[in-house]
Amino acid sequence: MSDQVKFVLDETQIPKHWYNIAADLPQPLPPVLHPGTKQPVGPADLEPLFPMALILQEVATEREIEIPEPVRDIYRMWRPSPLMRARRLEQELDTPAKIYFKYEGVSPAGSHKPNTAVPQAWFNKEAGIKRLATETGAGQWGSSLAFAGSLFGIDVTVFQVRISYDQKPYRRALMETYGARCLPSPSNETASGRAILAKSPDSPGSLGIAISEAVEMAAKDPQVKYSLGSVLNHVLLHQTVVGAEAIKQFELAGDDPDVVIGCVGGGSNFSGLACPFLGLQLRGGRKRRVIAVEPAACPTLTRGKYAYDFGDTAHLTPLVKMHTLGSTFIPPGFHAGGLRYHGMAPLVSHLSELGLIEARAYHQVACFEAGVLFARHEGIVPAPEATHAVRCAIDEALRCKRDGKAETILFNLSGHGHFDMGAYIAFFEGKLVDQDYDEGELAMALAGLPSIAA
Ligand SMILES: Cc1ncc(COP(=O)(O)O)c(C=O)c1O
Repeated sequence: MSDQVKFVLDETQIPKHWYNIAADLPQPLPPVLHPGTKQPVGPADLEPLFPMALILQEVATEREIEIPEPVRDIYRMWRPSPLMRARRLEQELDTPAKIYFKYEGVSPAGSHKPNTAVPQAWFNKEAGIKRLATETGAGQWGSSLAFAGSLFGIDVTVFQVRISYDQKPYRRALMETYGARCLPSPSNETASGRAILAKSPDSPGSLGIAISEAVEMAAKDPQVKYSLGSVLNHVLLHQTVVGAEAIKQFELAGDDPDVVIGCVGGGSNFSGLACPFLGLQLRGGRKRRVIAVEPAACPTLTRGKYAYDFGDTAHLTPLVKMHTLGSTFIPPGFHAGGLRYHGMAPLVSHLSELGLIEARAYHQVACFEAGVLFARHEGIVPAPEATHAVRCAIDEALRCKRDGKAETILFNLSGHGHFDMGAYIAFFEGKLVDQDYDEGELAMALAGLPSIAA
């Protein structure tokens, strides 16, 4: 059917395995270091924070990791997600390119985040854990873990970055609907939060600060474990259901992407889509362009340093080698809250160092323009984070038009923006402006990177 728009798999085709790219990498990832000894950490060092099953996934080297049946059963609530062809957008752009998107906004929380929230909650439940602490930037991750917690009877506490807590009361309401407790971060509940508030009572917060608060809560209480919505290997692993489905859906479409695009905050939706395609390439398949898109106001991959750094502001986490702007860097309060993280997933950073992926940064106004154009032709209002991928896909389609190339472009539409209409209102009122980070602050944050012997 040549004019097909949706490429849909049935529930029996939900992947049975997550794909672990570590098995196919030409060079292994640099080790994770203990913050005190600066020596490689062992599984036991991570036990206060995570259940052993997730720690073992973090360091796994086998190519395929089985998805437990109860997790696949819950995935059926929204998976397989559709692969869509953006035919109306193609027409509007008058491009010879074909634009496809994998739509993750069909999940209960409205984004890709439940793909990992559900297995994380399940593995914690299997380990007898009853309480989880986490952070959230945009509110998407917090609502996803709240949703997963509600399915397994796990109490969830979410530290929501202050600016997002203020900008997005309905996300907070959604978390509370699922039964979670949601606190603005920095908060008075933790020593890390209190230390920040003492210095800057009006701090807009950051993911780095919120992570410190959640990690501190878990580290201090053996009844509580910590859960992270991005960055870590096991989180990126869980997201590979997205790319694995997309590969099957392209077989249905009789097509194959030349360019694969995802926005990057901590790197999970990008990796989820890209890694299975990169795996095909690493095992001898054809080369595609793979583009990670980040905000120009928090340009981790394009401006950060590839160095060992802490994952959080209070320096409670292990040290990981990643592209970083420095753990004390606080990005401006732009609307794509889920992209305001000072670091990048070690795996995505490694892929970038190996030359397997490209990185690109956009300012937010250009992204919202793309989001509005997309909504007016495809009907779906993208989450502010996802507008970065939309912008890049449109620019690639326009490049194809200029060069007369009929390339196939695929991007991850990682979530819908129904809880982000305040940002769209600000855009329509001309109040949404491009924000740049402070060069002096960046230099200072980079100067404070921990020194690690080579
Ligand atoms: C819709 C959406 N897309 C993308 C992201 C960025 O996160 P990641 O890079 O882990 O996919 C977020 C983070 O909250 C998000 O909510």
